[in-house]
Amino acid sequence: MSDSTIENPLLRSQAYIGGEWVGDSSSNQKRVSTGRVSILNPATGALVAEVSDLGREDLLRAIQCAHQAFAPWRRLVAGQRAVLLRAWYDELIQNVELLAEIITLEQGKPITESIAEVRYAASFIEWFAEEAKRLYGEIVPPHLPDKRVLVTRQPVGVVATITPWNFPAAMIARKVAPALAAGCTVVAKPAPQTPLTALAMAVLAERAGIPAGVFNVVPTTDSEMAGEVLTGDVRVSKISFTGSTAVGKKLMQACAGNLKRLSLELGGNAPFLVFDDANLDEAVKGAVASKYRNAGQTCVCANRFLVHRSVAESFASKLAIEVRSLRVGNGMMRGVDQGPLINEAAVRKVESHIQDAISKGAQLVCGGNRHSLGGTYFSPTVLSHVDRTMLIAHEETFGPVAPIMTFENEAEAIELANDTRAGLAAYFYTQSYERFWRVSEALDYGIVGHNTGLISTEIAPFGGMKESGMGREGSRHGILDYTELKYICSQI
Ligand code: SIN
Repeated sequence: MSDSTIENPLLRSQAYIGGEWVGDSSSNQKRVSTGRVSILNPATGALVAEVSDLGREDLLRAIQCAHQAFAPWRRLVAGQRAVLLRAWYDELIQNVELLAEIITLEQGKPITESIAEVRYAASFIEWFAEEAKRLYGEIVPPHLPDKRVLVTRQPVGVVATITPWNFPAAMIARKVAPALAAGCTVVAKPAPQTPLTALAMAVLAERAGIPAGVFNVVPTTDSEMAGEVLTGDVRVSKISFTGSTAVGKKLMQACAGNLKRLSLELGGNAPFLVFDDANLDEAVKGAVASKYRNAGQTCVCANRFLVHRSVAESFASKLAIEVRSLRVGNGMMRGVDQGPLINEAAVRKVESHIQDAISKGAQLVCGGNRHSLGGTYFSPTVLSHVDRTMLIAHEETFGPVAPIMTFENEAEAIELANDTRAGLAAYFYTQSYERFWRVSEALDYGIVGHNTGLISTEIAPFGGMKESGMGREGSRHGILDYTELKYICSQI
């Protein structure tokens, strides 16, 4: 079966290396060293496109192209790079609907969420186009009368980005835009499930006039090979990865060999605290926005609901009313709130967390099973009477399940919330000003939402503590990880 109706001018099935589209079978195109991979629509199982599946030689070629492009790209003044990034931003904004369609077709999220994702992705490109011009150095008061001391920031060099399928446009933009703004060039390896969005972004970068070799996209299903090549090659100065904590640790070990720079945005286990002085209706609204966005397939989405015992029942029943009203379906249909999960393995993980919780005493408030639409659709679920003996309290579910645990007092709530090696995002609802300060300071998380379930924005630093990673993306801090400090000591 194929999605034969797709006529999207941004759809490409070839890799983008050195400013060329490679891998087409037509004779005048460069061939890639391996085969092709079928990209299937998770909503229907239909074929969306057959994409080049690159091998080691192709990746090495992309690294070489990025390496060659680095010197002329870094030589541009920041304002020139900013103009090109701004043109890329304009292309995304002018093509929001087309790019969003590709996201929904290969990833499954509702089209309204895909449109929001394209705007979110574009916001990073716009932001870093502006930040390119503000990469200031320092002139330090000298330590000796005849010395002058300058501190500058230089681009790290070639950056390899490795990005996940859950936000196939935004995660690329959040890494590539600051890298390019700083003067780095990029080899981008998209997730094997969602290469089409990355390739469409390359179409738009090419239209914007980003020079050949500055931004390369290398789709491959051989993630192990890609990791090995990108971490092992000394022409790559930095890896920026978003994905699982397990893979992040492997990349860190691999980077140790040549002390490659590394930024990691890894898994979360976000607590969502509801205190007895919270506005419950607002808390329910925030819970739905946080938990069921992208069918719960988000690193920052609430993974555990910790609710004061006195309001737990009321919170659970209000939440269940909202959750039952969520419309599950093909993301291309208007009015759908939740699309399919990315694949069968994702559904099995959700099922295993629910089964484990129920076998240990949790109660199903709503959902709990595969959706009648079949495939990888799953019913939005709420579980009550969850406790910390259950898998769901410790592992990232990455699916549309809200497990509710209870606490007796603030100290217990904080202790439960911090009882994890993850430290990406946390949320809490309270109307008390004093509690706002106490709780926001006590939570060991890089991102804290107070009275809101939505925290993502290009203007703030995104990143985690503990095993949720290292480095920050977005904000004025997000460009710094793509630079090296250089101190220049001048004798006068
Ligand atoms: C993620 O899930 O890793 C990113 C989510 C976001 O940027 O909001």
